[in-house]
Amino acid sequence: MTTTTTTTTPGTTPADGSPVLEASGVTMRFGGLTAVQNVDLTVGSGEILGLIGPNGAGKTTFFNCLTGLYVPTEGTVSYKGKVLPHRSHLVTQAGIARTFQNIRLFANMTVLENVLVGRHTRTREGLWSALLRGPGFKKAERESEERAMELLEFTGLTAKREHLARNLPYGEQRKLEIARALASEPGLLLLDEPTAGMTASETSATRDLVLAVREQGTAVLVIEHDMRFIFNLCDRVAVLVQGQKLVEGSPEQVQNDDRVVAAYLGTPFEGAPGAEEAAEVQAAEQAATAAPGGSDTATGRGRNDSEEGGKD
Ligand SMILES: Nc1ncnc2c1ncn2[C@@H]1O[C@H](COP(=O)(O)OP(=O)(O)OP(=O)(O)O)[C@@H](O)[C@H]1O
Ligand SMILES: [Mg+2]
Repeated sequence: MTTTTTTTTPGTTPADGSPVLEASGVTMRFGGLTAVQNVDLTVGSGEILGLIGPNGAGKTTFFNCLTGLYVPTEGTVSYKGKVLPHRSHLVTQAGIARTFQNIRLFANMTVLENVLVGRHTRTREGLWSALLRGPGFKKAERESEERAMELLEFTGLTAKREHLARNLPYGEQRKLEIARALASEPGLLLLDEPTAGMTASETSATRDLVLAVREQGTAVLVIEHDMRFIFNLCDRVAVLVQGQKLVEGSPEQVQNDDRVVAAYLGTPFEGAPGAEEAAEVQAAEQAATAAPGGSDTATGRGRNDSEEGGKD
């Protein structure tokens, strides 16, 4: 590595509940499609907040708006009271790190090198220092490596430090993504489906890892389809449906909310986003079935049966 470490303040925060992230009126349109509509969301320090919703609800798009990958059509995102710029490296530098729904690692680099890359926002290129490889450079390099090794220990990957990332089993690749994200010393970690494709024991280990991340002073916002994982882990849960925040509350409140059950089962409810269109389709289907020789092929497919939405 040709970077030197500076003493940039780590982003971790005492868990006093003060807002770490404040998203206000975030809207993202792609041409005629509104993927995220007027979403407000706050994550407090020391909090683990779950973000759930059917496929295509806009969860990943919302993450992309938070992390500067997309410039929201409307709305603002603030981190610890400061509005964030729409540049992903500046967002990381400010203190927000993320993992991706589709794992993004440097496949031909070792596990350790992947984590060292994650430290680059907390290091500064020192060209002369690097070229001359003076004592300052060597010390900084050693410190970076020590911190990376701590993170490998934390995520249980120490024994794999020299393995190429592409040779890791899937569950460990997801862990490595978390280790790399933590290398930037974030105050807020965003996880997009961290347990997708994991076995039950890997999922349980991921839960412990997220709790340990919070213990270390980093708030977490996590997208997941595994409801057991979400409801066992999160302090609060927000539900996105068709780009809009439908419900937000404790796991108990969300689990018992009829609108959430309806959204997942695809049953329209009064005032639901898209309920009018759904009612029209239902009426047309009923009319067709009632008519002599009418079709009886209505499938009753719910919203949750739709194809996966676009990925980041
Ligand atoms: N870059 C893009 N251009 C156009 N449309 C997009 C783009 N990214 C996402 N979309 C659309 O926005 C909607 C929301 O997609 P998004 O990937 O955010 O959903 P999601 O809630 O993350 O779904 P999943 O649970 O399947 O990951 C989808 O209709 C998707 O096709
Ligand atoms: Mg997604």
